[in-house]
Amino acid sequence: MTRYVLETRELSKRFGRGGGAQTAVDHVSLHVDEGKVYGLLGPNGAGKSTTLKMITGMLRPTGGQMLFEGHPWERDDLYRIGSLVEQAPLYPNLTAKENLRVRTTLLGLPEERVGEVLQTVGLADTGGKRAGRFSTGMKQRLGIALALLASPRLLILDEPTNGLDPIGIEELRGLIRSFPEHGITVLLSSHILGEVQHTADTVGIIVGGRLAYEDALNEGEDLEALFMDVCRKGATR
Ligand SMILES: Nc1ncnc2c1ncn2[C@@H]1O[C@H](COP(=O)(O)OP(=O)(O)O)[C@@H](O)[C@H]1O
Ligand SMILES: [Mg+2]
Repeated sequence: MTRYVLETRELSKRFGRGGGAQTAVDHVSLHVDEGKVYGLLGPNGAGKSTTLKMITGMLRPTGGQMLFEGHPWERDDLYRIGSLVEQAPLYPNLTAKENLRVRTTLLGLPEERVGEVLQTVGLADTGGKRAGRFSTGMKQRLGIALALLASPRLLILDEPTNGLDPIGIEELRGLIRSFPEHGITVLLSSHILGEVQHTADTVGIIVGGRLAYEDALNEGEDLEALFMDVCRKGATR
């Protein structure tokens, strides 16, 4: 048994070459504990999406390592890593059920998974409504349902509450909090403090591509003061 579902060691990503090159992720070492919600917090442009895209195989690291369940990350691990990064890949003319069926067919998964994940994300009653007509929150939940189809061990969510209204945020928060009890570890990113404060067990703060802080989040901890402090220090480094 390994303690971390996911670990990165000095993970780095540079975009471009020569004088115009930019380091978006700079020697980031994350430790994502099994059965927890990990919140990767940081201002816009800090490198959160780039980090998550490397873990989900959308971008290739230029340095460092990624370990999944204790072994060096390999593409086949993506069968056990569900993700929602950027917009949910939905067919607007299909219903929630049909969208999910496309993916189960593609992955050779049992048909029952469709009903199960719809239940999990609270979209079982959407019937003949097409995904294109869903609210942002519903689209987001359908995106999560797609990510859950293959029963992942790790679920990666990039800014999951972006564009949601307060009710949508509250619902999604409850859903995310319920994943660990179903054996799913969550790694999510956000630039919103309150988001992480209310959802995460562990917080990592990334500033200017560097991980400036990582620790368990204690009840009643003043994350705002911590965040400001870390950002100020990060900015002057
Ligand atoms: N494909 C890309 N090519 C060049 N630069 C990029 C690319 N993707 C992101 N960046 C840059 O990397 C930095 C980190 O971006 P990103 O990971 O999207 O930050 P965050 O998700 O924290 O807002 C930014 O300066 C951004 O402009
Ligand atoms: Mg981002």
